[in-house]
Amino acid sequence: MGSNIKKIGVLTSGGDAPGMNAAIRAVVRSCAYHKIACVGIYRGYEGLIEGDFEDLDARSVKNIINRGGTFLKSARSKGFFTKEGRQESYNNLKKEGVDALVVIGGDGTFTGAIVFNDEHNFPIVGIPGTIDNDINGTDFTIGYDTALNTVVEAIDKIRDTAISHNRLFLVEVMGRDAGDIALNAGIGAGAEEILIPELNMGRERLVESLTKSKKSGKSSSIVVVSEGDQIGKNIFELAAYIEEHLDGYEVRVSVLGHIQRGGAPSCYDRVLASRMGVAAVDALLNNERDIMIASVQRHMTPVPFSAVLEGDNKIDKELIRVADIISV
Ligand code: F6P
Repeated sequence: MGSNIKKIGVLTSGGDAPGMNAAIRAVVRSCAYHKIACVGIYRGYEGLIEGDFEDLDARSVKNIINRGGTFLKSARSKGFFTKEGRQESYNNLKKEGVDALVVIGGDGTFTGAIVFNDEHNFPIVGIPGTIDNDINGTDFTIGYDTALNTVVEAIDKIRDTAISHNRLFLVEVMGRDAGDIALNAGIGAGAEEILIPELNMGRERLVESLTKSKKSGKSSSIVVVSEGDQIGKNIFELAAYIEEHLDGYEVRVSVLGHIQRGGAPSCYDRVLASRMGVAAVDALLNNERDIMIASVQRHMTPVPFSAVLEGDNKIDKELIRVADIISV
């Protein structure tokens, strides 16, 4: 490793995700291991613009591997969209003597990183952190596994009450543009139907399918609905439509919301975050930049930001087939 980097800054940006603390910890401790300084930047790119920095050493990140959220806090910065905001950020980094950045977040975070590097020629490596698992190029994002477990646990509980009352429940899960949470949690929780933004089955077919499964002897049903799904105006309107067109069920709606983003990270997310944090510092010290650390078939793999942002995150068709088969 031959590089001139003496100080690395780390920040978390966009929606928080369980495991972000573990990733920050790994970055800080990697820096300590390689005997270079590390500085934490609060509230993502907002803190960069405002110069909200704090020196971190190995002990600064004790007892956080098990904590949800991000102790550096997060934000979706509007200021960083402006040239002035980015210039201010660059000035602050220079003033603090920061030579490179690790940014933990999603597509928006990486888009900001590309523009910043274009303007200021500043080394940045990204780590994918979002519960949505909607980042192209990596098999998994930090926080996704924990969110799935949270959703499955919630649906298991909803199932108890659904069975007791012979009800149909529509359970809305997060995933603005991606159905990964809905599809995987739906399979894991044994849902009858799973509605995702990538595949609009239409309300008529949905009711047809639910009617068929009711006739086959089911007395309650769980339909998992991704928040980005386009099937109805919203989940409440869809519930009213189903109640009107499907005999014999009372329909209830449960929106899981931000509960999905909180809580202690799963072991999978802690290990993934730790590996990505170490790989990010390694990459910077090997003079790599403008890349995201991806998990590809369990290997930590650098993927250029440009490749991350140009492709679409595709849904796994095999999973759709499995969901169809096991819900008969
Ligand atoms: O973190 C991604 C995400 O959870 C999306 O699934 C969701 O649409 C969005 O964040 C909610 O964001 P906010 O917390 O800003 O309302």
